[in-house]
Amino acid sequence: MASTKTPGQGAPAEKGGLGVLLERAERRYRPLIRVDPQLSRNVVSYQANKDAPFYRWFRYQEGFSTKLVDRLIEESGIDTGTVLDPFAGIATTLFSARERGLDAVGFELLPIGPFVARAWLAAEQIQPASFDEAVREINATDFSTSPAEDETAFKHVRISEMAFPPGVERKISAFRHHVENRIGDKGLRDVLHLAGLSILEKVSYTEKCGQFLRWDSQSGKARVVYSKTRIRPFEEALAAQLDVMSEDINAGQARPATERRGSVDLRQGTAFELFSAVPDGSIDLVISSPPYLNRYDYTRVYPLELAYLGVDDAGLKRLRQSLLSCTVENREKVAYLEDLYAGQGRASFFSRVKAVHDGHEIVAAIHDHFEKLKDANRLNNPNVYRLIKNYFFEHAFVIFELARVLKAGGRAYYVNDNVRFAGIVIPVDIILSDIAIAAGLQTESISTLPVGKGNSSQQMGAYGKAEVRKCIYTWRK
Ligand SMILES: C[S@@+](CC[C@H](N)C(=O)[O-])C[C@H]1O[C@@H](n2cnc3c(N)ncnc32)[C@H](O)[C@@H]1O
Repeated sequence: MASTKTPGQGAPAEKGGLGVLLERAERRYRPLIRVDPQLSRNVVSYQANKDAPFYRWFRYQEGFSTKLVDRLIEESGIDTGTVLDPFAGIATTLFSARERGLDAVGFELLPIGPFVARAWLAAEQIQPASFDEAVREINATDFSTSPAEDETAFKHVRISEMAFPPGVERKISAFRHHVENRIGDKGLRDVLHLAGLSILEKVSYTEKCGQFLRWDSQSGKARVVYSKTRIRPFEEALAAQLDVMSEDINAGQARPATERRGSVDLRQGTAFELFSAVPDGSIDLVISSPPYLNRYDYTRVYPLELAYLGVDDAGLKRLRQSLLSCTVENREKVAYLEDLYAGQGRASFFSRVKAVHDGHEIVAAIHDHFEKLKDANRLNNPNVYRLIKNYFFEHAFVIFELARVLKAGGRAYYVNDNVRFAGIVIPVDIILSDIAIAAGLQTESISTLPVGKGNSSQQMGAYGKAEVRKCIYTWRK
């Protein structure tokens, strides 16, 4: 069932109060919200891809799976045209789409995804024999003594310092030196550098655990009492990684390429700026998963990988502030977006989107509610108020851009979770769908996982248990 009204833009709530508004919104959307028994955590997360050839080269834990993208493309009925993912991560949407003969465009802020994607593409062109030859040479090199000191040496950012056991950092630098100086072919160099990137976590004192980067106590970082299960020796981790890559490269080349592969075009930068290069009505399908409204800071979970790719402290801060706001550290982007659109000669677009956002009564009521909680010191972190504000404001621009670039009839599938702060379940799905409707999209459905997300022990203790929807929204132009 499709809805064409612009709910949430109506008259102010008769009784007022956030609770009443939220209940009313739930009732409005009830016919569109359906549990999809085929959706599992495994499929909407990276889990289903973690042992797949090529995908297993790098664990991007924020990714979704090929299986999910395949299913959504099938459901869309599209077999030619262009797919867009404005929050592409390691390009799962793009690679799945091209296997089905579709052209794919993506935007990704962090350099990690574009680097991995470039290496995957390069790997398809590499002769397995030359890769294996390079691996033999690497495995025979002692990186504790081979040359290390030059501009390719690994340079930390402040938050990655002390991440490695003694001697490991030197070996990483020597490995990079080896790849840069001994390997002539650029594509092969990219693939080998990816091997180095992929083992950083394994050979370090750090471990990505959900939203946090945990540090083993041996790192000497203050206040840590964590013991990582296993810190792998550099040589062992590298050899194992190269082994897996060799297996996939050899098997990949033996397999006939599918009949018609599309193109992959992953652009690095912020979606806010990259949208402007996409013409109106040029996109057949969008499959994407934005940062969630859950305080997850990508730049704090991937500091080793970002440093490996040459990001310095100033660059890291810039990346953090360019994220679609998802951390309590993000400052607001109102002036930035206003300038950006003015610079593109699209000041009226900015005003229109801002008006829709500012006129949304649930958003306004949430602001009000959380501002009061902040003023009464009742938020764990006062910046949660700012985070929520930023998230919906910035998202309004993304959604209006999606509506602009989609062809008539085109669909957008959007994977996102609802969240709970200070006991209030924020219906991100409903709010973003309201904005989508105001942007000219229909909300066809909100499919949810059979089991939602639990709550943090903190939330449960203070406010009791409430299940929070994990969803895929389907919008159609
Ligand atoms: C949930 S992840 C998507 C992962 C992706 N579906 C995959 O399979 O790899 C969200 C992504 O959005 C990226 N991101 C955050 N803010 C962005 C921005 N302003 N512009 C472009 N990408 C951004 C993050 O770096 C992250 O990779």
